[in-house]
Amino acid sequence: MKAKKEHAKKPAKKSGGKKLSVTSLLTIAQLQPQDIHLILDTAAELKAMQKAGKAHPLLKGKTLAAIFEKSSTRTRVSFEVAMYQLGGMMYYLAGRDLQLGRGESIADTARVLARYVDAITIRTDDHRKVVEMSKTAGIPVINALTDYSHPCQILADLLTLKERFGKLKGLRLVYVGDGNNVARSLVFGAAKTGIQLVMSSPAEYSLDQQAVEFSENDREKNGGELYFNAEPGRAVMGADAVYTDVWVSMGQEKEHAQRLRSFKKFQINGKLMANAAPSAVFMHCLPAHRNEEVTDEVIDGPQSIVFDQAENRLHVQKAILALLMGGIK
Ligand code: CP
Ligand code: NVA
Repeated sequence: MKAKKEHAKKPAKKSGGKKLSVTSLLTIAQLQPQDIHLILDTAAELKAMQKAGKAHPLLKGKTLAAIFEKSSTRTRVSFEVAMYQLGGMMYYLAGRDLQLGRGESIADTARVLARYVDAITIRTDDHRKVVEMSKTAGIPVINALTDYSHPCQILADLLTLKERFGKLKGLRLVYVGDGNNVARSLVFGAAKTGIQLVMSSPAEYSLDQQAVEFSENDREKNGGELYFNAEPGRAVMGADAVYTDVWVSMGQEKEHAQRLRSFKKFQINGKLMANAAPSAVFMHCLPAHRNEEVTDEVIDGPQSIVFDQAENRLHVQKAILALLMGGIK
């Protein structure tokens, strides 16, 4: 196990005001730790209100344009229901049906949409498109997944972990699988909340060095730790949570056969979970390719919290929308 430096433990700042330090949500990397805590606290409050049947129309009359250039179940529906429950409305825009799909520029699309709606969310391939949209729109832009990152997912995962363990700082989270968009956002989420993260990937699909270096400063400040261990059986030892994602992400379908060969020993099955702490939970952002990266036995087993993660997408989405769109002052 290659250890990165352990650093002096400096407590993360608690969420103070009700304002985020950002006007758009593009990556976890751009958030301050207090932004993350504010989103999680707000999501927990909104979740409690929803469960108690208390209306919370914080975005009455506000609108969200949601551009999807890739498939989605959770992100699309949770954004749409979130806007409805907040008293606003979402417009689903399939990329191929927009003029964007026929070559209209991102910048022109952003400028036009900003004349109609109060915020934009976009799921696309190239992260630079989301950045460009945020630069030109002049209204909040939310990353609903790019090939580079998936911030909304990781915020929901952090809420799920906090609910389960009552804290984030000091938890041992082991990610087994592809060093992809979800893994990259997890690295930043862990670094900013003081989580001890272990990454276990085949060498050829390991997380990029840039993300490791880029997040180092956050680990130093918040007491996070990052380790790499390419032996999943050893990596999961002592884990509080074991997390995986698909081996073949959207857009990588042609690499399916090669990837299956490379990831074979990285499957989360009963034998691997037995190496983690008995109280360890199993996490997956979903959708799962059952019996590839995870067996039915584990994902349907008592340690699995994957549907709590999926549910929390809704509550976190509401917090992000309300905070970015002026619903909480
Ligand atoms: N986890 C996630 O983003 O799921 P969808 O692709 O269904 O939105
Ligand atoms: N890594 C996956 C996440 C899906 C939510 C993908 O990009 O397809």
